[in-house]
Amino acid sequence: MKILIHPSAQKAVDCVADLLAARLRNDPASVLGLATGGTMEAVYARLIAAHRAGQASFARATSFNLDEYVGLAPDHAGSYWRYMRQHLFDQVDIDPSRAHLPRGDAADPEAEAARYEAAIVAAGDIGFQLLGLGANGHIGFNEPTSSLASLTRIKTLTRSTREANARYYDRPEDVPHLAITMGIGTIMRAQEVVLLAYGAAKSRAVAALIEGPISAACPASILQMHRRATVVIDEAAAADLTLRAYYDEVHPKGGPAAI
Ligand code: F6R
Repeated sequence: MKILIHPSAQKAVDCVADLLAARLRNDPASVLGLATGGTMEAVYARLIAAHRAGQASFARATSFNLDEYVGLAPDHAGSYWRYMRQHLFDQVDIDPSRAHLPRGDAADPEAEAARYEAAIVAAGDIGFQLLGLGANGHIGFNEPTSSLASLTRIKTLTRSTREANARYYDRPEDVPHLAITMGIGTIMRAQEVVLLAYGAAKSRAVAALIEGPISAACPASILQMHRRATVVIDEAAAADLTLRAYYDEVHPKGGPAAI
């Protein structure tokens, strides 16, 4: 696992956006796995800027988002479809027919989850998977105790996840309780995984992810088993790491390997 600790949240954001833009330049027809949430807003802003500067084209890319709330139609203000259009899709050259999210308003959400998993397999699996991190260690909406081999399915959100996402809704009780999420097994099939976390609220989850035991109690810890996983964090999110000096020695200030 590559651990890149940047001096600021903005530098961590820039690093992740640059990794994704570089992937698109190297492989314009990449299959991207995309995430939503507060962490990614700054990443997408930087990617839009890179696109406008001619440094990133999504024209040949395919994307699959990690998750969507059950019950929300794509035009619902709290849906991840809406989030993605607002923060990325409407401002870059991605082909909307190749930008995928689960349909939260599907009549049969379980069948929709199975269809989504099959669509990812049919696309040849994810090439570059972008991940945020829940303060409870979740990736996608794979909450603690999720099967580490799970495929795309319905998950019940924890109270803490609903509270963390309440800011996107008029009333806390409007936050959906269920989501369709890529499974941990789905995520682990990606060729390359890049996880971004910044801020003090994520420091305990970051330590559990990098240095804790591999356990469904911290679903992100399974990334220790991924052959090409990069964790990009800022100083605040690195605060609880025990082997900090080692990470700094290998990648000073989150930059290229020193040795
Ligand atoms: C969103 C997702 C979640 C978020 C995580 C962090 O698609 O899959 O795992 O990445 O909840 O959310 P923020 O960035 O809002 O702290």
